Amino acid sequence: MTERITKSMAKNIYYGGGIFALMIFIALTFDTVQQIPERSNEVDMTPSVVAGKKLWEDNNCVGCHTLIGEGAYYAPELMNVFQRRGGSDEAVFKAYMKGWMAVQPIEIPNRRKMPQFNLTDNQVDNLSDFLIWTSKVDANEWPPTIEG
Ligand code: HEC
Repeated sequence: MTERITKSMAKNIYYGGGIFALMIFIALTFDTVQQIPERSNEVDMTPSVVAGKKLWEDNNCVGCHTLIGEGAYYAPELMNVFQRRGGSDEAVFKAYMKGWMAVQPIEIPNRRKMPQFNLTDNQVDNLSDFLIWTSKVDANEWPPTIEG
């Protein structure tokens, strides 16, 4: 006797497989969404962090930089710039940021330039707080190297 798949068997495989995959997808989505508050440290989102995020958006920093891998690949990844340029010390990093933002653009031939944004010290502190907060997001060891 030849064995063959009947129409109803094929239907069952199609719907059964589809529903099974959908259930796994929903379970994984639920699991991810549940982990976000802990992994993003959202309790540490101070008003200064929120203000820094707004400045980040308004000045389109992401138009040149990446943050957690998202953005443009013209300029360095900034998720770990707190560790890279501040040695994970908030005061050192804030001083570095003030200096860095003030001296732009650096006129070195054949080097990519960053514009001058004319931000106040307070605004630069907000941006620093935002980048410090971002550096503490659990992004599965991203970025892979200290240079981003
Ligand atoms: C037009 C592109 C552009 C925009 C927009 C831009 N940057 Fe940059 N940024 C650069 C480039 C290019 C460098 C690297 C310059 C160099 O090394 O001389 C840089 C470097 C930096 C660094 C130092 C990174 C390191 O590893 O040393 C920081 C911090 C930084 N940018 C912050 C910002 C912030 C904050 C904003 C938004 C307010 C911003 N950038 C917007 C182009 C840009």
